[in-house]
Amino acid sequence: MTNILVFGKNGQLATALANTRIGTEIKLDFIGSFEFNLIEHISDIYRYIINYGQVDAVINASAYTNVDKAEIQGAEHAWILNALAPEQMARACKTRGIPFFHVSTDSIFSGTKTGAYRPDDKADPVNFYGVTKLEGERLIQSVNCAGSIFRTSWVFSDTGHNFVNAMVALADKYPEIKVVNDQLGLPIYAPDLAQALLQATAKMIANPAQKFAPIYHIVGGGKPIFRYEFTKLIMRTAGLQTKIAPISSAQFAAPAPRPANAVLDTRSFTSTFGIILPDWRLGLKQMLLNNGKGGKLNGQ
Ligand SMILES: NC(=O)c1ccc[n+]([C@@H]2O[C@H](COP(=O)([O-])OP(=O)(O)OC[C@H]3O[C@@H](n4cnc5c(N)ncnc54)[C@H](OP(=O)(O)O)[C@@H]3O)[C@@H](O)[C@H]2O)c1
Repeated sequence: MTNILVFGKNGQLATALANTRIGTEIKLDFIGSFEFNLIEHISDIYRYIINYGQVDAVINASAYTNVDKAEIQGAEHAWILNALAPEQMARACKTRGIPFFHVSTDSIFSGTKTGAYRPDDKADPVNFYGVTKLEGERLIQSVNCAGSIFRTSWVFSDTGHNFVNAMVALADKYPEIKVVNDQLGLPIYAPDLAQALLQATAKMIANPAQKFAPIYHIVGGGKPIFRYEFTKLIMRTAGLQTKIAPISSAQFAAPAPRPANAVLDTRSFTSTFGIILPDWRLGLKQMLLNNGKGGKLNGQ
């Protein structure tokens, strides 16, 4: 039996990890903010992991993910949760001699590249959330423990705060919604992310002598999409008639800028682990079906 300690319990990824079965003998212990608040107990994280019972690896599915709040008032908490906490987790894993698996974001890039971002492309965070996540990556790498960082983007799931749920909630309320038409991304359904992440980590735990890359990208299979087109697809799939009007990011004026191009290149992940990442459109259909919103794929 492989025991994995997971930080995060009720978030999108943590919830999906709890529902993932990959066929091997893996037991996941979830530690949410109720069980152990990483901000309040930042100086106890190292000791907590060192003293935890049988653990073969740690996955960090926790993060400060409110991108706009991080920009305007949540800087300190975002810094602790996204930069300092993972460093302590990595240090404890190194001491215990176990791998540490961390999750990061497309926001560590500027979004100005033409084409998909590869894991070794130059980081240049587009917002403060990205600054904190990049610092987390750097601190983890400076610890030099076993394991990898998995960057992802545009995660959506049945529950939780995500773009799909936000658009459906707005569409239920208003006859027309305005959506930016200049942000391109590759979404991923949280259960697909959880499945891919667990398969990869299981392989890495089972092959400690094998060399793996420090960073991989995991996003959905299929084609990238602009948020405006994504929203139209959400409406069609959910059978909603709400009118979608395109605007620019400058007009929308969110507190935190987002990458114009958030598309991540997953080729090193898929070739290393032999994992096919399902088309995110199928995940969207499944999610909306689960939520009683139809799940039609008409107009595809
Ligand atoms: N969502 C996206 O679109 C997206 C895009 C790119 C990258 N990512 C990355 O993917 C990873 C997973 O994101 P997600 O969408 O699952 O995030 P999420 O739904 O916002 O969940 C955040 C998790 O962090 C935990 N957490 C927050 N504050 C905490 C605290 N003070 N102490 C302890 N735990 C705390 C939460 O704990 P509870 O379980 O107690 O609620 C929850 O499990 C993160 O690293 C994120 O940066 C996400």
